[in-house]
Amino acid sequence: MNVSQEQLLVEKKHTGFIELQNISYGWKVGQKTLNQCNLSISSPGLWMIVGSNGSGKSTLFRLISGLIKPQEGHVICSLKPAFMLQNPDHQLLLPSCGSDLLLSLPPDLDPSQRSEEINSALRQVGLQNMADRPIHTLSGGQKQRLALAGALASKANLLLLDEPTALLDPFSQRSILEIVQKITRKSNKRPITALWITHRLEELTFCDGAAIMQQGRLGQWFSGEQVMKTFM
Ligand SMILES: Nc1ncnc2c1ncn2[C@@H]1O[C@H](COP(=O)(O)OP(=O)(O)OP(=O)(O)O)[C@@H](O)[C@H]1O
Ligand SMILES: [Mg+2]
Repeated sequence: MNVSQEQLLVEKKHTGFIELQNISYGWKVGQKTLNQCNLSISSPGLWMIVGSNGSGKSTLFRLISGLIKPQEGHVICSLKPAFMLQNPDHQLLLPSCGSDLLLSLPPDLDPSQRSEEINSALRQVGLQNMADRPIHTLSGGQKQRLALAGALASKANLLLLDEPTALLDPFSQRSILEIVQKITRKSNKRPITALWITHRLEELTFCDGAAIMQQGRLGQWFSGEQVMKTFM
């Protein structure tokens, strides 16, 4: 990187963005899961990624969130990430909705702020008044909405959604899509950037842009409809 490129990155870092430059990563020596992969997002919205099994989409998420470091290239992300996984049972830990959300809250809140934040996160996902409800009594769709509430309560401004609707029926799928679409709108006070991996092509109609992961690289952003057509 030359000086002007570095200056540009420092400037962009303050505006909230993600930039991956020529990232390579292999889980095994001599094998490149990601190969000179680039990605750039500079405004909030709902961004979707499609690609075949094993093409490196989840690996890309780990790189963006900093869980793993690239072997080549640069990851610059000025946003605070939170994950939402395919199976909510893999991320809900405590017995009740409220106690589980407590884990996600910033540590410096007093008890009344904590309860306010928990109720607000539950309201945003349509689970109002369910703070005391035992998690094992929730349906799969409700559990997934609780996982989303956890991400919101953490004050993350980057949601990394790894096939979040894969286990859901069409009704619950739509409800998660609509909630995420709503919180990413630029008209919000604190719009969120959502990166959403999907194999369910009909979801592409909800996004602000979509890209295809292929041969270790992410293609350029197109409209969801354009990407859908390439698979039909
Ligand atoms: N922790 C790991 N250890 C070793 N290899 C891994 C690990 N995680 C992923 N891989 C390998 O990296 C490649 C890409 O996997 P990744 O999970 O990123 O793909 P994906 O695009 O998310 O696939 P899917 O659509 O099936 O979820 C695969 O060959 C996989 O076996
Ligand atoms: Mg995956």
